[in-house]
Amino acid sequence: MLRSAVILLALVIMTMTGEAQYSKKTLVAHRGASAYAPEHTLAAYRLAIAQGADFVEQDLAVTKDGVLICLHDASLERTTNVEALFPGRVSTQTIEGRTRKAWLANDFTLAEIKTLDAGSWFDKKFAGEKVPTFDEAVAAIRGKAGIFPELKTPEIYAGRDVQFEELVAAALDRNGLRGPKADPATPVILQTFGQPSARKLAGIRIGVPVVLLLGSAAGFETADGVKSWKGIVQGFGPAKQIVLKNPDFVTWAHAEGLTVTPYTFRASDPGGFTDVTAEMSHYLHTLGVDAVFTDNPDKFPRK
Ligand code: G3P
Ligand code: CA
Repeated sequence: MLRSAVILLALVIMTMTGEAQYSKKTLVAHRGASAYAPEHTLAAYRLAIAQGADFVEQDLAVTKDGVLICLHDASLERTTNVEALFPGRVSTQTIEGRTRKAWLANDFTLAEIKTLDAGSWFDKKFAGEKVPTFDEAVAAIRGKAGIFPELKTPEIYAGRDVQFEELVAAALDRNGLRGPKADPATPVILQTFGQPSARKLAGIRIGVPVVLLLGSAAGFETADGVKSWKGIVQGFGPAKQIVLKNPDFVTWAHAEGLTVTPYTFRASDPGGFTDVTAEMSHYLHTLGVDAVFTDNPDKFPRK
């Protein structure tokens, strides 16, 4: 009786906070199986699932007409043929502190973006792959793996009157994925580098776990720095060097019930280890992280 009450209380608390821990050492496919197929295409997502991903990552951008799409960069030119199709639509943008010519995704409608080839830049055998909408990604993945969307460059949208966090909340509602037990076959974890965005997600009670990404250790060199995010986010996604340099980061996070999911593990750069499987194994089993982002889902260490 008492045990049932404790379990029920734990479930209620998890529902209120959006907290959900990983049930095992977890494989997050970074931009899909992006070592083998063009990042953020349905081909990359499907291959990630075939290679056993527990979660498939989406980086999110917002089109001019307010649609969430899966795209890593704020602009389209690195991974599509936008420059050839829309040469006159370039503008000068400051993105993540760098001013350059860019074809910003937020300056294009979904219909325009759907004319682009998002596969040929990677390999001509992927010619014709499209930039997927978030809803298309969910449809391709749900029931087969979890989703791990990142609110990418939220600072761009804050200056353009785009309510990024609300768009994500609406998309989760629309797809029946809001709340920790909404679809047990399709768990959802959100992530962002944007600290204001993470706070906003907590403020609107997004109802799914949020991971704060860390590009540097600034502000997180002490247990108190880590603890200060308890109740706002449910975990951290540090650059992997942060954990390697300071393994206590994992201890501090776990002491507060916060998960640790470092990025990014790549066969092309195994960080001084013999191979990327050995590298991921060191992080997961020696340093004790909970999950890893990797471009190579097939190389995830499985015991
Ligand atoms: O989201 C984790 C990792 O993907 C962060 O780096 O630049 O690949 O989005 P990035
Ligand atoms: Ca990402």
